[in-house]
Amino acid sequence: MGNTNEARLTLGIVGAGAMGSGIAQVAAAAGINVHIFDMRADAAANSRNDVAKRLRKRVDEGKLTADEAETTIACLNVADRIEDLAACDVIVEAIVENLDVKRELFKALEGIVSEETILASNTSSLPIGAIAAGLKHRQRVGGLHFFNPVPLMRLVEVIPGPDTTDAVVETLVALGKRLGRDPVVVRDTPGFLVNLGGRAYTTEALAILHENVATPAQIDAVMRDCCGFRMGPFELMDLTGIDVNFPVTRFVHESFFGDPRLRSTPYHRYLLETGQLGRKTGRGFYHYGEGAQKPSA
Ligand code: NAI
Repeated sequence: MGNTNEARLTLGIVGAGAMGSGIAQVAAAAGINVHIFDMRADAAANSRNDVAKRLRKRVDEGKLTADEAETTIACLNVADRIEDLAACDVIVEAIVENLDVKRELFKALEGIVSEETILASNTSSLPIGAIAAGLKHRQRVGGLHFFNPVPLMRLVEVIPGPDTTDAVVETLVALGKRLGRDPVVVRDTPGFLVNLGGRAYTTEALAILHENVATPAQIDAVMRDCCGFRMGPFELMDLTGIDVNFPVTRFVHESFFGDPRLRSTPYHRYLLETGQLGRKTGRGFYHYGEGAQKPSA
């Protein structure tokens, strides 16, 4: 594929949730033509509307000109069918954190796009090599792992699988830079760099809660207000979504053969099983009541 600095670059995004929407926003702001697809009817259109609303709010706050906002919004296109992504230069997958589902999607994409199209995954923890296994053209598959919320978080991990070419890695790094991020190339290991290195921030907090030492609000207050973290571990898990951070925690724990420092707790799983997924469902470790200024534990 061509140079990512070319204005004509077209980016496909599959999965219009929290991450897909954020990636779409920063890409469109960089002047890239974005096509968003989601298997849920209206999800891609809702994502475009949400981004438009966010940008127009920034105009009202004087942080963006109306022209900049409208130019960005004009770069966002809703794809009704996955086949509409056929002409994209790069496609970033941001769907559910499940290896089988991701593999199935990549297989379907391979039947739609040209051999040149780069297929990237925003997975938090699953091996890029495993997502690419079974594909005909594994050399064009790589990880492009953004952080939540994408417009605010500058880091992006670029992860080559065992067959990924240097040219693909270079293109993903260049794309990350064009999106205003700071790309870091990391190895294809469970959790990559950040979700392994930072795992203890949440697993230790879960263990402290499990041992009834302190409440989520107490632990968060200490980490945020005394230790200088932007968010406490429970606030972070509620923002990420329990449906994302529980499977990631479980996967990393299993990948290190049950290393106890990486272990989750029954309450973490209970939240998942009862659909208390955090901010997205209005309840997780905290309640997010209507009009609530602050979460309540
Ligand atoms: P989300 O639940 O907000 O959005 C996922 C979207 O994908 C949904 O709209 C869903 O309808 C769609 N989807 C699911 N299966 C699909 C399929 N087969 N084809 C098309 N669309 C499909 O999830 P979120 O939080 O955006 O996460 C997405 C990915 O990004 C996951 O792999 C996650 O591990 C990763 N990630 C999440 C972060 C977070 O903080 N939430 C941070 C970094 C990575």
